[in-house]
Amino acid sequence: MSTTSFNISRRSFLKACCLGVGTGSLPVWFLERELASAATASGSLGPNDRPGIALVGCGGMGQVDAGLAARFGDIVAVCDVDQKHAEQAATKFTKGGKVPEKFNDFRKVMERSDIHVIITGTPDHWHTLVNLAASQAGKDVYGEKPLTLTIDEGKHLIQAVRAKKTVLQTGTQQRSDPRFRLACELVRNGRIGKLKDITVWLPAGLREGPFKPTASPSELNWDFWLGQAPKADYVPQRCHTMFRYWYDYSGGTMTDWGAHHNDIALWAIGLQGPVEVEGIALAQPIPGGYTAISEYEVRFTYANSVVHTARTTKADNIYGGIEDPQGQRNGVRFEGSNGWIWVNRGTLRASDKTLIDTPLPEGAERLYNSNDHMGNFFECVRSRKDPICRVEVGHRSASTCHLGAIALRTGLKLKWDPDNEIFVGEHAKTANTWLAREMRKPYDYSFV
Ligand SMILES: NC(=O)c1ccc[n+]([C@@H]2O[C@H](COP(=O)([O-])OP(=O)(O)OC[C@H]3O[C@@H](n4cnc5c(N)ncnc54)[C@H](O)[C@@H]3O)[C@@H](O)[C@H]2O)c1
Repeated sequence: MSTTSFNISRRSFLKACCLGVGTGSLPVWFLERELASAATASGSLGPNDRPGIALVGCGGMGQVDAGLAARFGDIVAVCDVDQKHAEQAATKFTKGGKVPEKFNDFRKVMERSDIHVIITGTPDHWHTLVNLAASQAGKDVYGEKPLTLTIDEGKHLIQAVRAKKTVLQTGTQQRSDPRFRLACELVRNGRIGKLKDITVWLPAGLREGPFKPTASPSELNWDFWLGQAPKADYVPQRCHTMFRYWYDYSGGTMTDWGAHHNDIALWAIGLQGPVEVEGIALAQPIPGGYTAISEYEVRFTYANSVVHTARTTKADNIYGGIEDPQGQRNGVRFEGSNGWIWVNRGTLRASDKTLIDTPLPEGAERLYNSNDHMGNFFECVRSRKDPICRVEVGHRSASTCHLGAIALRTGLKLKWDPDNEIFVGEHAKTANTWLAREMRKPYDYSFV
């Protein structure tokens, strides 16, 4: 935080750490270790100054994030290009008679010096410009996943965050779930032997359409909502919630769910990204309907020969809920020379129970420990340290998903240089044109 300092009480932080983290399927040795590290964590935190928070993008997830953030600070402003959503959020976050100020242009939010934290809950195609504006104004950001719409956007964002020394947490909260952390620690420490394959199961997207344009609602600034994306007639299915099934605004479930599960694959592998990617569409979009490929299989190969396959399942719905109890759940399966580990939101299993139940030895590689994603962010806002999903983590996870979408859309087998973040080899010239997109004026980088 650049302008005011504040502290979060250790007791409330530890209490928050315990919220929402069920312990089912976690072994006793791991829970004991967690308690021991909590007991020695962070020393004495001082009195409780509360930062000012603004929510930009007041839809479903933005409101969830703001609710979680309100444990640590005060929601003093809300901003949306849909007036109704801004009003709903202002009502929801009114506290002690204080109504958050309503905005319809996020650039104005950045002018308020009593706002220290921005929560970015817009659709994906707006994430980068909002986060850039926030960083340039010296504000810290809790930014929803996938962090960017393109790989090029991520490079711009890293530069701004590091230049301004702001704190950015990516909203990939699975890294703050102890099941995923333990699975990755076990894999990294060779518990299943040499890691060979990772299968990431993602819910299939929607294959629907064609849709009919209608007049846009009077409370919505449709041109501002479209932003950098190509001009398009208003279709309700392009807009709230459903934007993720259009490549103009997002990347289908490859970037929606992939931002979570591919991120976990990367965490276990410990590399910056793959060196090869190829994909195949298992269903074609309906003309005039959602454009993102709904069913697919994409294969990423890493420099250490690990193969990571991202596949869709129709047994879970787009929210991750069970449609077919006998079918394949979304989640991540690690296959090694000595066995396998399966993890998702709620389960951690292995080919042999002892792979999980046997404690890791002293000196084993430990991963960044956070059990409360929002709490970790506010702790870092105070300490100025990097949060668990710092900007580089969010960028690389998003990049891996973007690579998958590019392979699907081009149908090409592509070679990627993760150090220099460019495509190389036979199809490099074509593929490198996919690193950025033309941003419709005035909503390009000069907008902020
Ligand atoms: N971390 C998670 O588990 C998780 C879960 C769901 C969604 N998300 C992410 O959250 C983001 C929002 O998803 P959602 O389902 O809540 O979408 P949504 O459509 O419900 O909400 C988005 C809101 O942003 C507003 N908006 C659009 N452009 C804006 C702009 N320029 N300035 C201000 N407001 C603007 C919209 O009008 C809408 O109110 C997505 O990026 C999504 O991937 C994350």
